[in-house]
Amino acid sequence: MQGLQDAKKELLSKYFYDDIGSQLFEQICLLDEYYPTRTELGIMQEYIPEIVSLLGPGCMLIEYGSGSSTKIRMLLDALHNPAGYVAIDIAKEHLQRSAASLAAAYPGLAVFPVCADYTSDFTLPTSSGPVSKRVAYFPGSTIGNFDREPAIRFLQQIAKTCKGGGLLIGVDLKKDFNILHRAYNDTQGVTARFNLHLLERINQELEADFQLDQFGHYAFYNPGQSRIEMHLVSLKPQVVHIEESEFSFKLGESIWTESSYKYTPAEFAQLAVCAGFAIEHVWTDAQQLFSVQYLKVV
Ligand code: TRP
Repeated sequence: MQGLQDAKKELLSKYFYDDIGSQLFEQICLLDEYYPTRTELGIMQEYIPEIVSLLGPGCMLIEYGSGSSTKIRMLLDALHNPAGYVAIDIAKEHLQRSAASLAAAYPGLAVFPVCADYTSDFTLPTSSGPVSKRVAYFPGSTIGNFDREPAIRFLQQIAKTCKGGGLLIGVDLKKDFNILHRAYNDTQGVTARFNLHLLERINQELEADFQLDQFGHYAFYNPGQSRIEMHLVSLKPQVVHIEESEFSFKLGESIWTESSYKYTPAEFAQLAVCAGFAIEHVWTDAQQLFSVQYLKVV
């Protein structure tokens, strides 16, 4: 809760993802306005033979933030003799459920669920069989939720983990601001509920008294910073209690809950190179909304 003490209030976006938050996020992924998920799946579908031939046989897949593990099925259906699948996620029950259904759908595949915050240190399970290389899978443009320096540090950590291997990553692209705006301001209000769930979670897990109807979802594209900024804005002057502490909010004061950076392929390449990767291939959809990229550790 430290972020609420700062002059500019902020909460870390990883706290969105408890089991309810993960389910709400999955609803976002199905929204008409939220183009990233279906566009990424479309790109994967179209280019899966090329993707699979770059990954090669016998690789160990490591997914960072596996969620419901839907996207990985496309890879698992097409890959030759994958050595195993490590699913890392912060939401425990969600992870266990997905891992179990995946193991049932792919008998013979070694599935290793790891409940962890993947931005912190955690140990990877070791496979008993032969592994040709490690390939990290990081779809959904979650890399866009990191600021530049943390993004580089995180990619560096992946490069270390996957030495000799690579990274298959989804990266959202710069585009018409209106399309971006709609994706984070859906008409059904699912994104708003997802955003507000953060406060609900604090109320439940810490002793807190946020009034959910006194905060508003506010998301906009900041073109100068190339990012969507998501906030919860206080709709009145108010004081909120969290355990022993008091936090006062002015009317209109906001809690910054998420950023989602958008890149041109060239901008992302620069970031990836800084982190020790070489761009092996970039796939996009016809409208250039989204990209799937395979990077090699150098
Ligand atoms: N990785 C997703 C993105 O940046 C996460 C996301 C989508 C999200 N919609 C959101 C996070 C709404 C918080 C609130 O596109």
